[in-house]
Amino acid sequence: MTNTANAGASRYHAVYDEWKQDPEGFWARQAEALDWFKPWDKVFDAEAGVYGRWFAGAECNTCHNAVDRHVEAGRGDQKAIIYDSPITGKKREFTYAETLREVEALAAVLRDLGVEKGDRVLIYMPMIPEAVFAMLAVARLGAVHSVVFGGFAAHELATRIDDCQPKVVVAASCGIEPSRQVPYKPLLDAAIAQAKIKPEHCLVLEREEHPYDLEPGRDTDYAAAVWAHMEAGTKVPCVAVAATDPLYILYTSGTTGQPKGVVRDNGGHMVALRFSMEALYDIRPGEIFWAASDVGWVVGHSYIAYAPLILGATTIVFEGKPVGTPDAGTFWRVIQEHGVSSLFTAPTAFRAIKKEDPTGSLIPDYDMSSLRSLFLAGERADPDTIRWAQEKLKVPVIDHWWQTETGWAIAGNPLGLGELPVKIGSPTVAMPGYDVQVIDDAGHPVPAGTLGNIVVKLPLPPSCLPTLWNADERFRAAYLDEFPGYYKTSDAGYMDDEGYLFIMARTDDIINVAGHRLSTGAMEEVIAGHPDVAECAVIGIADQLKGQLPAGFMVLNSGVSRPAEEIEREVVKLVRDEIGPVAAFKIALTVARLPKTRSGKILRGTMQKIADGEDWKMPATIDDPAILDEIGAVLKERGVGQAAAA
Ligand code: COA
Ligand code: AMP
Repeated sequence: MTNTANAGASRYHAVYDEWKQDPEGFWARQAEALDWFKPWDKVFDAEAGVYGRWFAGAECNTCHNAVDRHVEAGRGDQKAIIYDSPITGKKREFTYAETLREVEALAAVLRDLGVEKGDRVLIYMPMIPEAVFAMLAVARLGAVHSVVFGGFAAHELATRIDDCQPKVVVAASCGIEPSRQVPYKPLLDAAIAQAKIKPEHCLVLEREEHPYDLEPGRDTDYAAAVWAHMEAGTKVPCVAVAATDPLYILYTSGTTGQPKGVVRDNGGHMVALRFSMEALYDIRPGEIFWAASDVGWVVGHSYIAYAPLILGATTIVFEGKPVGTPDAGTFWRVIQEHGVSSLFTAPTAFRAIKKEDPTGSLIPDYDMSSLRSLFLAGERADPDTIRWAQEKLKVPVIDHWWQTETGWAIAGNPLGLGELPVKIGSPTVAMPGYDVQVIDDAGHPVPAGTLGNIVVKLPLPPSCLPTLWNADERFRAAYLDEFPGYYKTSDAGYMDDEGYLFIMARTDDIINVAGHRLSTGAMEEVIAGHPDVAECAVIGIADQLKGQLPAGFMVLNSGVSRPAEEIEREVVKLVRDEIGPVAAFKIALTVARLPKTRSGKILRGTMQKIADGEDWKMPATIDDPAILDEIGAVLKERGVGQAAAA
């Protein structure tokens, strides 16, 4: 469907050209809306860092721009954060002035615990406002936070502790899932025990839903410590940092079990995020913006914590699920109750709602007149979901494409510049700042409509990662070396003759499960660690709700006499224990052999096509074609994937 409303009225092309003509002038103008303690020497220093650095020489503080600036401007009484938790039945609101008090007191506690500029602080918290306070307090001190998603297991937490070496961990006593509580202490204790680097302190918020036994000498009680500084009215000034200093490290799946520490700087990040709030999301200060994600993911960092606050809007910290807390009308209730202007979530959340309430019968129960737009990202937005949302919500439904690495959209439909015609299946066009191109494996541009590697011409715009934490070489190898002069997105797709992008698949082993980015390579490493497994392959198979689900195929060591089902159950548990429940790894299938090329490469792509019931061609280099039939037979027998439905 092409929606031609507003076609021709959009300022997008003019703004994109303005950026292209003079990128530095463009970003300098965007930066003027923010407070800087010291202006930049160069808007972009091409000689600095791996591929150049934004706002070199400038000094600033992100917390100042997200909180203090609005209080100083007389907007202290405006709501900054709304906490809405259908899972606990709690709601709280914090104005900008109250947020400042919370953040300052917490910063004072962290300072007491020895946190200084440049130190790392790991945050392991569920969707509670204290998670946002913690991010802001760390930023206030000029320190660097690393938030770890609650659905990861202790081992993943330990890997991150070792990589970023935090001085302090800020945690809560538990997360709450609809079916169970998730106590964090056993996870934290196990992670610290496994980690080679031991954090000096843990600051722990005891939630009334779950007690926490403080570890003497290691743990400090969050509530008591923060309260003491609130009472005392302790002031903690914002520490000036270089615009190029790191604000946070966010780990994301790479092609191995070792996650990549994406670094975000202070200056470029706030400039790009502020620009995106206006140009892409069309939000103004004082409006209510709701990103229904989790602070553990990049969407949560950018659009729950930082961007709405940097703009001076109100953000919602929602602790619940799209369905089951208590029903498929929760999203509509939140929109009505808080007057949400724009909702941002993953398509899978809408698929979950649609599955529960296919006709949208709960929608008319709520007044959703405040809602102007729905933004979807994190995975491909399938046409059925987009159409359903368009029809039921009667607002623009905007698919936009981005990555943890970029921190904001690479492509989108910039509502703030005037909506462009929608092409369903496309996240629309490159945002100003990104010169997106599609090239073949040899690095040559491909014609419009032809599938290829999607790359971004360097330099990347502000907010995109300048490097990986302590790993410049890995950064070059993973993103820059293959196509010199370009950033490799590892997404494949095409661009049509109007510049609309279509994102079709990953070119690496990353899969997308319920909007969560997971590495099949990391799962294979865990499965291969089982003593009875000789070799294995994990692929992502299509799933109507979650987009993709991981499925593991394993060949057992010869001589294993135990029932295969027993080993399959152990392998499922192993992945859950090592990576975490968020991996949603529940399908383990024992096979006699894995299909391979003559050079020994496992034919994962062909296996995936068979599982998804797609057309596939016999690879010319296959070693033994009969093995593919065996894989199809196992899938059918076990009722897995489309092969089973055929
Ligand atoms: N802490 C601990 N465990 C968690 C968790 C957390 N923060 N988040 C998820 N899990 C667990 C779940 O309890 C579940 O465990 P189970 O195997 O025991 O049931 C498992 O991880 C998978 O979780 P999830 O992917 O959330 O599946 P679900 O079946 O519970 O819910 C959806 C399905 C579609 C409702 C849910 O995935 C959803 O809301 N997705 C939106 C995704 C999103 O916001 N992505 C961010 C990018 S925008
Ligand atoms: P993450 O880093 O977790 O945000 O995941 C980024 C990856 O998710 C991208 O590289 C894409 O593969 C996928 N992705 C995110 N948004 C979209 C989208 N709108 N359309 C298609 N794929 C997307």
